[in-house]
Amino acid sequence: MIVKEKYYQIIDEILSNDFEGKIAIDATLGNGNDTLKLLKAVGKTGFVYGFDIQELAIKNTKNLIGEKFQNYRLFSESHENINKIKSADLIIYNLGYMPGSSKEITTLASSTEVSLKKATEILNEGGVIIVVSYLGHENSLKERETVDSFIRNLNQKEFKVEKREFINQVNNPPIVYLIEKKV
Ligand SMILES: C[S@@+](CC[C@H](N)C(=O)[O-])C[C@H]1O[C@@H](n2cnc3c(N)ncnc32)[C@H](O)[C@@H]1O
Repeated sequence: MIVKEKYYQIIDEILSNDFEGKIAIDATLGNGNDTLKLLKAVGKTGFVYGFDIQELAIKNTKNLIGEKFQNYRLFSESHENINKIKSADLIIYNLGYMPGSSKEITTLASSTEVSLKKATEILNEGGVIIVVSYLGHENSLKERETVDSFIRNLNQKEFKVEKREFINQVNNPPIVYLIEKKV
């Protein structure tokens, strides 16, 4: 497959790079699918941290991981506190609401921006942030505009940035932003 048509194929492409032994953060746990991918990417010698404001997300993520990995820690708090982790090589934001759960509880423009700013500060050189942004939920357009503007304005001397869009798809497909801190 050369051209992707699903957002998770882009995540998989990024995670196929060598992150063995690295520190990763899932900034929006949800059902834990991304956390499990991060654990596989960093292997047993790496470590994964996760954040979500919903207890259900912590529970679902733990259930999904099961006994397969022990090298992770989950925080039942907002990703605005992401800087309690002092450095990271790989950070994922999968914005919006938790699939299969309440659509009322979503990420929000202001807290996402606060967190993203901190994420760019704790990111190690050569490290990557992946942001998946959806439209459809309440406040989603404001969040998209805020995220887009924040990433667009990152200093190009410090960060490489890509915006991946599935521009021939109907029904507001997600946009994937990629940020890499230059070495
Ligand atoms: C699209 S889901 C994440 C999907 C997930 N990564 C997966 O693999 O299933 C978005 C999640 O962000 C969470 N969320 C909303 N606001 C948050 C915040 N301020 N900090 C951390 N998580 C938040 C929601 O509770 C929801 O579980």
